[in-house]
Amino acid sequence: MAAAKKHNVDLLLLLITAITAASLLLQPTSAQLRQNFYSSICPNVESIVRAAVTQKFQQTFVTVPGTLRLFFHDCFVNGCDASVMVASTANNKAEKDNPDNLSLAGDGFDTVIKAKAAVDAVSQCRNKVSCADILAMATRDVISLSGGPSYAVELGRLDGLVSTAASVNGKLPQPTFNLNQLTNNFAANGLSQTDMIALSGAHTLGFSHCGRFSSRIYDFGGKKGAVDPSLNGTYAKELQAMCPRNVPADVAINMDPVTPRTFDNQYYRNLQQKKGLFTSDQILADDTRSSQTVNSWASNSVAFNNAFIAAMTRLGRVGVKTTASLGNIRRDCSVFN
Ligand code: HEM
Ligand SMILES: *[C@@H]1O[C@H](CO)[C@@H](O)[C@H](O)[C@H]1NC(C)=O
Ligand SMILES: *[C@@H]1O[C@H](CO)[C@@H](O)[C@H](O)[C@H]1NC(C)=O
Repeated sequence: MAAAKKHNVDLLLLLITAITAASLLLQPTSAQLRQNFYSSICPNVESIVRAAVTQKFQQTFVTVPGTLRLFFHDCFVNGCDASVMVASTANNKAEKDNPDNLSLAGDGFDTVIKAKAAVDAVSQCRNKVSCADILAMATRDVISLSGGPSYAVELGRLDGLVSTAASVNGKLPQPTFNLNQLTNNFAANGLSQTDMIALSGAHTLGFSHCGRFSSRIYDFGGKKGAVDPSLNGTYAKELQAMCPRNVPADVAINMDPVTPRTFDNQYYRNLQQKKGLFTSDQILADDTRSSQTVNSWASNSVAFNNAFIAAMTRLGRVGVKTTASLGNIRRDCSVFN
């Protein structure tokens, strides 16, 4: 009798273990996102978005860095839910009105708005595709349009119901961060240090305002005339010429001085030559915990591309909303329904 009971308990345990294992295996890669999510809802959505993004790209290159950075900022504040696109109203200061939005180029927003209009022009698709997913597709498209890798993008996000300027505080990494601060900031979003190093490669494109690094080229550490010793001296002089003292606040320069309009692994080669624009860039090559990864991607663009795609896919899963209580499909990306 006792033995039979024990046997039953064992069977029960076995069953529970088997069910747990099976449910783990069957679990979608992350909160229900998947490739080809719209295949029956709006079958041509990816080509519609790509055509709209391509048209916008032909009008201005700023489309590329503008869209890529918009996606990053969206995902790191309240998840990838297009909350960054919501406009402020009399009663609500939205995310985009936080000072950290500096350089969220209007062209990034415009890219999503244009692509959304193109999607909604197809009656089957009208108000069926979220702004968050359009931003994720547009981001994939600007990367390949600028010479980077193309990849299958996971979809199925809903648009968020909340956007506040205050929610931005403390969420985004700062250009003064050291390796521990960077790693912790990305870990708070479920991303690894390797993901962080790969995603930083996005600085192979786009612009920075002079004020974001002026403390490295003028009076570094409060010492009159000093330059950050971790910066290449030749490059520091070039930066001083482009960004003189008291330069107007809106002056911006290329972050990749070599191939600023190409998505490539030049960023890592720049770091090897001490040409990382921000402290947060240069530390990746200067800290022994990350320098090996920098060196391997500087010499192997295929390895970098693969790491970047994997990291972008994980970035795209951060804080996504897939249930109706948490999100919906916004009719206008800049206004809650
Ligand atoms: C690792 C920590 C990061 C820090 C500290 C950081 C910081 C910055 C700063 C200060 C700027 C210049 C803003 C300006 O002055 O206009 C910038 C620009 C940019 N960042 Fe980052 N960033 C980080 C990671 C990322 C990631 C993960 C992405 C995307 C995957 C990204 C994409 C961009 C792009 C594309 C631009 C250029 C924007 C434009 O030209 O409009 N950054 N970043
Ligand atoms: C960013 O925020 C500032 C206020 O800090 C605001 O004047 C500006 O319009 C915002 N930029 C965008 C693109 O929303
Ligand atoms: C600094 O940049 C110059 C070219 O701009 C390069 O030749 C030199 O090797 C760099 N210095 C270091 C320490 O990497």
